Amino acid sequence: MITFAFLGTKPTNNDMVDVILGLQWGDEGKGKIVDTLAKDYDIVARFQGGPNAGHTLVIEGTKYVLHTIPSGIFRQEIINIVGNGVVIDPIVFVEELDKLDRIGLDYHSRLLLSNKVHLILPTHRMLDAAKEAAKGSEKIGSTLRGIGPSYMDKTGRNGLRLGDILQANFEQRYKSLKRKHLDLLELYPQIQFDLADEEQKWFAALERIKKLSFIDAEYFLNAQLRKGKRILAEGAQGSMLDIDFGTYPYVTSSNTITAGVCNGLGIAPKHIGEVIGVAKAYTTRVGSGPFPTELFDEAGAEMARVGHEFGATTGRPRRCGWIDMVQLRYTTMLNGVTQIALTKIDVLNGFGQIKSSEHYLVNGQLSDQMPYDLCQYEVAPKYLDHPGWNQSLEKITSTDGLPDKALQYINYIQEQLQVRISMISTGPARESIIIA
Ligand code: IMP
Repeated sequence: MITFAFLGTKPTNNDMVDVILGLQWGDEGKGKIVDTLAKDYDIVARFQGGPNAGHTLVIEGTKYVLHTIPSGIFRQEIINIVGNGVVIDPIVFVEELDKLDRIGLDYHSRLLLSNKVHLILPTHRMLDAAKEAAKGSEKIGSTLRGIGPSYMDKTGRNGLRLGDILQANFEQRYKSLKRKHLDLLELYPQIQFDLADEEQKWFAALERIKKLSFIDAEYFLNAQLRKGKRILAEGAQGSMLDIDFGTYPYVTSSNTITAGVCNGLGIAPKHIGEVIGVAKAYTTRVGSGPFPTELFDEAGAEMARVGHEFGATTGRPRRCGWIDMVQLRYTTMLNGVTQIALTKIDVLNGFGQIKSSEHYLVNGQLSDQMPYDLCQYEVAPKYLDHPGWNQSLEKITSTDGLPDKALQYINYIQEQLQVRISMISTGPARESIIIA
C-alpha cells in the first residue's frame, strides 16, 4: 500500500513573512491557495506585477477574478496591501472595486496601498500595444496591460507613483510624461486608441482611488511584524516569467521570485519565512516563448479542455504540456521553496499514462539544468512514465483517500524537489483541497 510521504513540519511565522508564488509560467492556481491560507494570516500583501495577473477564486459557486487587489479581500478580517513593487492601472483597479461593491463587500478600511506603487498611464498601454505590434512574429504575447512600459519608466526614473497624485504638480508631471510617450509613439506604426476617452476614465478612477488609504507600506508591514501579526506575501505570474531568471525575453517585467518580496514590500531577507510554491500537476503557458514539454497532440488538447485552460485576464487559450521536473527543480531552488501546493491534479484523472520530464537533452547532451537560453538551444525533454489513476478525486479530503497511483505521482514530485507537498487541490471550489 502506498502512503503519503510526510516531509517536515508545519510552518510557524514568528516575525516572518510567508510567501506564496507560482513555480511555473503563471496560472498555477495561486488565487485559490491564497484564499485557503488567508484565514491563518492577518495581512495579505501583493509584491509585484499588475493587472496582467488574473487570480481566480470560486466562492460558494461564484467565480471572481482579481487582477491587482490581493486575494485576501474576500475574508472580512484580513488587511490587504498593494505593495510598492506593484504597478496599477487606475481604470482596471476601479473596475475591480466596482465588482466588490456589487457584492456588498466592505473593503475601505482593509485595502491599503503603498504610496510608492507605480502608475500605468493610458499611454503606457498604447506603447505596449505599439511595441508588440512592431515585433511581428517575435512578439512576447504580452497581456497589453502596459506592464513593460510602466516598469521601464520606473527603472528609467521617469515614473509616476500613487503618492504623486496628491501633489499640486501632478497634472503637470502627468502631461510631461505623456508628452514623452507620444514622442516615442511616433516611432511606431499607428494603433487604434481613443486617448482622450481613456484619459478621462483614468482621472475619474484616480478620484475614486484617492478615497482609499495610501501608506508607507514598508513601515506599516515591519511594524505589524513586530506586533506579531502574520503576513502572507502574494506573488503574481510565475517564476519562469521572472525578469532575471525566466525565459528571457519572453518574461514579464518584474521579479516574480521570493527575492521580489524584499524589494516589492520592503521586507528584509531575514524576515522571509515559509515559501509556498504553487505548481500545477502539469504545465501551462500563455503567450509566446519556449516551453520544452509542450504537447501538440490529443493529450495537450485534453488538458486544455478538462482544465479550462484559458487566460483569466485575456481569455487566450493556454498552451499545455507535461510536468517539467528540470524546470520545477530550478524554480524550487531560486525561491527557497519550503512547501508546495500542487494544483489541478484532478485534470489528470482520465489519463491512462502521465509523463514527467526528469532531464533535458540540450544539443544532444543529457542535462538536469535549465540552459542559459531556452530559445537558443535545442532542448528535448527526456520523459519518465507514470501510470494514471483513472478515477475521480472529487470528495477526497485526505491523502489516505487518494488512489495509490496518484500518491505515487505526488510522492515522486516531492522526492524530485525535496520539498513536502502540503496542499493538493482537487478542483476549483474552495473546499476541494487536501491539506497534507
Ligand atoms: P506582460 O507582463 O503582460 O507584458 O506579459 C509578458 C508575458 O507574461 C506574456 O507571455 C504573458 O502572457 C505572460 N503573463 C503575464 N502575466 C501573466 C499571468 O498572470 N499569468 C500567466 N502569464 C502571464
